[in-house]
Amino acid sequence: MSMRVLVTRDGLPGRGVERLGAVAEPVFHTGDGKPEPAELAALAAGADAVLALGNDLVDAALLDAAGPSLRVVALASMGYDNVVAAAAAERGVVVTHTPGVLAETTADLAFALILAARRRLGAASADLARGGWDVFRMHDYLGLDVHGATLGLIGYGQIGRAVARRAQGFGMRVVHHDPYARVDDALSAATDLRSLLAQSDIVSLHVPLTDATRHLISVRELALMKPTATLISTARGGVVDEDALLHAVREGRLHSAGLDVHEREPMGTEVSPLAAEENVVMLPHIGSATHATRAAMVDLAVDNILDVLADRPARTPLPGTSAVPGRPARTTGAPA
Ligand code: DGY
Repeated sequence: MSMRVLVTRDGLPGRGVERLGAVAEPVFHTGDGKPEPAELAALAAGADAVLALGNDLVDAALLDAAGPSLRVVALASMGYDNVVAAAAAERGVVVTHTPGVLAETTADLAFALILAARRRLGAASADLARGGWDVFRMHDYLGLDVHGATLGLIGYGQIGRAVARRAQGFGMRVVHHDPYARVDDALSAATDLRSLLAQSDIVSLHVPLTDATRHLISVRELALMKPTATLISTARGGVVDEDALLHAVREGRLHSAGLDVHEREPMGTEVSPLAAEENVVMLPHIGSATHATRAAMVDLAVDNILDVLADRPARTPLPGTSAVPGRPARTTGAPA
């Protein structure tokens, strides 16, 4: 067996990685942390495939370190803003991601954030835990209703639509803005960004991070939102200008926010000042973090590797790119 697959983390969930062992020799980056690019480059030499995570930089340096044997880089993530797709296309390397398998789980978390931020669950729970719940008062712990509210989805791909389905059960009115999904459907009405921001009680972000979506929500957009509105993001940290958000929340120009993704990840002990705001709920990027979904993500990444190594087209190449190695691929900014 002469093929090599670099797996950028040891101990990935599920049994997917074991299946690689039948056709190739897996080489693991060991240890608990995120590998440095130089460490990955050293391990990549002579690899036929790389199984990477959504926060491993996949650029020309890594691809060149692997060399001409490299045919596929399979991400165990749906987001792919860590990939320099043009560098992979130039070298004829297929890059795959994991659409589909995490949409429902991530939509569950988006909904959890909607409920937590609107009903101020973080602040209420923390007050109880520190012994502050001494008497029932009609005016304590008041939040805003979720049922009957207007939900604005920015990005209406798999996850956005899964959130829209959940919203039906809460009797919500749903609108969406997405350059790739401009039409109404049974769940949601299409609208432009300005009107979505102005009419929504809850704005939830479901776009990939690209040059076009970086700081899509900044001072101007926050100013268009209702002071009673909530901003939710399970997309990517860079989509929201966090400084602008902090000011809007502190100055009472926005009711609340629920964020699973952040401009700086991970935060370690340098926690964002947003986390200290009573009406902000922040989570450590756990949108897809269930046992079943994380295992399914690894499984799909492994399936993509096994397909390409067996000369079959990859199942889920990045949008607009080739499923077959060795061919020049066209790259677009189209979302999954
Ligand atoms: C994804 O799949 O994009 C999740 O954010 C985890 O990286």
